[in-house]
Amino acid sequence: MNSMPTDSELSRRIGRAFLEIEGLAEGLEESIHPDDEMFHTARLAEAAHPGRSRLQYYRDGQEVVHALKNMLDAAGRPLAGCDRLLEMACGYGRVTRHLVRELPAANITSVEILEPAVEFVGQTMGVDARTSCTDPSRLNIGSDFDVILVSSLFSHLPRARFGEWLQSLYGLLSPRGVLVFSAHGPEAVPEIAKDPSGFTFVPQSESLNLDSAEYGSAFVTPDMVREIAREEGLAHIAFVERDLWMLQDLYVVSRVALPGLSAWQNVSFVQGVIDRVQIQEGEFAIDGWAADSRRGVPMQSVRLLVDGQEVASVEVKAPRADVARLKGRPDWAHSGWSLHGRLPELASGEHLLAAEGVSTTGATGVLDILPVQLP
Ligand SMILES: C[S@@+](CC[C@H](N)C(=O)[O-])C[C@H]1O[C@@H](n2cnc3c(N)ncnc32)[C@H](O)[C@@H]1O
Repeated sequence: MNSMPTDSELSRRIGRAFLEIEGLAEGLEESIHPDDEMFHTARLAEAAHPGRSRLQYYRDGQEVVHALKNMLDAAGRPLAGCDRLLEMACGYGRVTRHLVRELPAANITSVEILEPAVEFVGQTMGVDARTSCTDPSRLNIGSDFDVILVSSLFSHLPRARFGEWLQSLYGLLSPRGVLVFSAHGPEAVPEIAKDPSGFTFVPQSESLNLDSAEYGSAFVTPDMVREIAREEGLAHIAFVERDLWMLQDLYVVSRVALPGLSAWQNVSFVQGVIDRVQIQEGEFAIDGWAADSRRGVPMQSVRLLVDGQEVASVEVKAPRADVARLKGRPDWAHSGWSLHGRLPELASGEHLLAAEGVSTTGATGVLDILPVQLP
């Protein structure tokens, strides 16, 4: 088993500050298993902003639950009414820790192929944690689930398994149940050459534990997903593009038609960063960008917090053609913001400076948290 380096003290402090601002500090499981490969991925955020990995990890899990709730609300099946939820391929609980804040742990079955992850998730999050297998016909975890959530497993499966798992999980749904899963579209990683069939499988992934023939990287067009669903006899399927982490497409399969899904649109989740901080003799100048992941939805403002206390806010409207171009989002052309002012009297030493975005949809979210040293 591979052991990842543990995170820094700064990452822990920033992670804690993130949870407090987001109102998640009470009750959200903070511990992260040293072998959690999703945390390893979150550590890549350190290159841009040292100390960001825990913030990134908690946010990535939170985003999945926001996207799930957004879809379920559109479908007319709010998460709060779910008696039995199956979380398939839960890993070390990046998403599970957020799910158990929405539903009693007793309503959740979390399934994973890595034994240590099953143990960790069961012990720390209190869900019914079960061990999975590569061949879905051997899975034995009960049925009649109202919601089955599969974040980032289909994005790794080869063609044959993709269909087998789809069919098998569909068979575990209650009559009114919904199966929601994410998949990489063909453009998720443009530099990889794509198979003209619409299904590309590359036997490579972030996993150091799993057989790359069973768990690699898959890229699949929506037409191909529909074709596979048809082949497997699945009646109703809907999708929105890049709804998870603005990277993976989100699909919903149900036994009965869900007309509400015709109005389903991307989750409103606040994105952005602090680009620059200058503090001199108590005066600050801070700027960055902020945007809503839902297409065409303008942001309202950005709030600046120092050690959790709001000290300033500003409208989001400055031109950021660079962000629009880099992110492929022309609707983000005015996502810039700039804050200037005087800091309140603060003790010398380190303080945490946070930017929180407020969207016109009402969604709020921490964009970034950075440490600053005051004399
Ligand atoms: C990219 S991770 C996503 C984890 C989690 N859903 C999340 O979003 O944080 C994919 C997970 O699928 C697990 N996995 C791979 N094959 C599986 C299988 N056949 N059954 C259950 N889990 C599997 C891997 O071990 C890994 O933890």
